[in-house]
Amino acid sequence: MKKNILITGGAGFIGNHVVRLFVQKYPNYRIINLDKLTYAGNLANLTDIENEPNYVFVKADICDFEKMLEVFKTYGVTDVIHLAAESHVDRSIKDPFTFAQTNVMGTLSLLQAAKELWKEDYKKHRFYHVSTDEVYGALEFDDTLFTETTSYDPHSPYSASKAASDHFVRAFHDTYGMNIVISNCSNNYGPYQFPEKLIPLFINNIRHGKPLPVYGKGENVRDWLYVVDHARAIDIIFHEGKTGDTYNVGGFNEWKNLDLIKVMIKAVDKQLGKPEGHSLNLITFVTDRAGHDLRYAIDSRKLKNELGWEPSLQFEEGIELTVKWYLENQDWLDNVTSGEYEKYYEKMYGE
Ligand code: NAD
Ligand code: DAU
Repeated sequence: MKKNILITGGAGFIGNHVVRLFVQKYPNYRIINLDKLTYAGNLANLTDIENEPNYVFVKADICDFEKMLEVFKTYGVTDVIHLAAESHVDRSIKDPFTFAQTNVMGTLSLLQAAKELWKEDYKKHRFYHVSTDEVYGALEFDDTLFTETTSYDPHSPYSASKAASDHFVRAFHDTYGMNIVISNCSNNYGPYQFPEKLIPLFINNIRHGKPLPVYGKGENVRDWLYVVDHARAIDIIFHEGKTGDTYNVGGFNEWKNLDLIKVMIKAVDKQLGKPEGHSLNLITFVTDRAGHDLRYAIDSRKLKNELGWEPSLQFEEGIELTVKWYLENQDWLDNVTSGEYEKYYEKMYGE
C-alpha cells in the first residue's frame, strides 16, 4: 500500500538510519525527511540515498505550525514517525527553554497538524512518537528494569521535555481518538552519532590522545543498543504496534560507564595498532553531571513477545563495528567537529 510518511529529525543520528531503512525497504512509500538541520542534523549522513526517487528532504522547524500544515498538504502526509528533538542531556541542563520549545511545542505542533488534516478518519493514519527510557527516571543498582507500566519520573530538563511530549501524544489518542504509538528506547550507539555523546566523543578523543572526561566515578549504568536494531524495532512497531500502545526497546545490555570506556579503549587501541592499555591514562575523572541518573535498564520483553523483535547484534560485535566506522570515517568526524558540514547544507539548501 502506498504511504507518504513524514519522518522528522531524519538528518540526525537515529533518524538517518530510520530514513535509510524505510527508503530502501519500502519503494512504495514516499519518505519525506523533515529536519531543521540544527547542529545535530547533517545531510551528509544521507548522501547514499538522497537521489532515490521515493525520498524528499524538507528543511523546516517542527515548531512552525503553519509550515507543518503546508507540508502535510503538499505531500499528502499519511503517517508520521517523529524523531526530531533536542537530545543531549548536558545541553538541556544549560538551556532548558530550547528543549521545552522543540520537544514539547514542536511535538504539539505536529500533533495539531495531524489532527486537523486526518480528521476524516484517524484510523487510517498513524502518528508514531519515538521517545526515551529517561522518562522513567533512574533505577538503583539492583535487578529492576523499566517496564511499559513504570511511572514517569524524569529528572533532567531533557527527560522532562520528552515525558511532556509523550503525555501530549497519549492525550491526542485519548481525547481525539488519534492512532498513536510510542516507543521508549535505551541508549543507542553506532555510526553517525554526534561526537558530544559518550561513545563517539571518547573514540574521537582516544584517536587524538585527548583526555576522556568521566563524570563522577564512572559508576553510572546505561543499557546500550546498536542503532540499526533500534531502526528495525521502529519499522516493526510502526507497522504492527497496537494503537495507543507503548513499547520499550532495549538491548538487555547494561554497562557501567567505566567498564564500557575500557572496552572502547581496548578496541580503539587495537584498531590503531597501539599496545593494549596504551590509552588508559587518558581517563580523567571530572565533576559529575548535575542530577546524573544512576542506572537505566529496559525490559523489552513485550516487544519480543508481542511483535517478535530482538536485538540482532551482540555488544562486542557492535562496538567493534562502531569503532571501525568512526576510524574509517575520520573525515565525517572532522567535518562535524569543525562545522564543515554546515557549509555543505548551506550550499544545498540556503541559510
Ligand atoms: P539527534 O540530536 O542526533 O538528532 C535530532 C535531529 O532532530 C537532528 O537532525 C536535528 O536537526 C533535528 N531537529 C532538532 N530540532 C528540530 C526542530 N525544531 N525541527 C525539525 N528538526 C529538528 O538525536 P537522536 O539521538 O537521533 O534522537 C532522535 C530521537 O530519538 C529523539 O527524539 C530522542 O529523544 C530519541 N531517543 C534517542 C536515543 C539515543 O540514545 N540517542 C535513545 C532513545 C530515544
Ligand atoms: O537513555 C536514552 C538516552 O541516552 C537518550 O534519550 C539521549 O538522547 C541520549 O543522549 C542518551 O542519554 P545519556 O545521557 O545516557 O547519554 P550520554 O552519551 O550523554 O552519556 C552516557 C553516560 O556517559 C552518562 O552516564 C553520562 C556519561 N558521560 C557522558 C559524557 C558525554 C561521561 O561520563 N562523560 C561524558 O563526557
